[in-house]
Amino acid sequence: MDHLELRARMLPELPEAMAAHIDRVVALADQLARRHGLDVARVRLAAQGHDLLRAVPPAELLIRAEARGMPIDPVERAEPVMLHGPLGALELEERFGVTDRGVLEAIRWHTPGHPDYTLEDWAMFVADKVEPEKLRQAPALQQVRDLAEESLPRAALAYLDQRLTEAVAKRWQVHPMATLTRNSLLRAGLNEG
Ligand SMILES: [Fe+2]
Ligand SMILES: [Fe+2]
Repeated sequence: MDHLELRARMLPELPEAMAAHIDRVVALADQLARRHGLDVARVRLAAQGHDLLRAVPPAELLIRAEARGMPIDPVERAEPVMLHGPLGALELEERFGVTDRGVLEAIRWHTPGHPDYTLEDWAMFVADKVEPEKLRQAPALQQVRDLAEESLPRAALAYLDQRLTEAVAKRWQVHPMATLTRNSLLRAGLNEG
């Protein structure tokens, strides 16, 4: 399945603003994938699918996750919006016929990232965080956008650093996978230089 076929199937279920965000993420992910010589089709498919359930109300996401017996982290229980990735990956497989395991795992973890992410996965992740509208709303993200031209993992680490700083300042909980992801990027030496 290519991203245009998935887009056509998803559109009836998406509010206009969400469809527009996804289009911007696909466009930027495509650009970053080309810049870094990655598998563009795979990056576009993950970007297209990533927010299938982002517009579903958090209380409904929690109900769906509980009904399926999905493991729910206490941070996810407090902030059920975080379940839109894991649940979205399941529904993309079951209802939309997405079969690529790597794409589904990338979508599953697209909010906190994952230590096993490939460069293709990072292209989708970073594009989601710094697409033009998000950059307009949070100009500090320009640092992440600039780094994405040089290194996607460096851009991802800068993004996770910004989020951690914000979480500390605002006394927000941090998803455990965001911490594991950041640690793995730090161990890769990406914080130097
Ligand atoms: Fe999302
Ligand atoms: Fe998104």
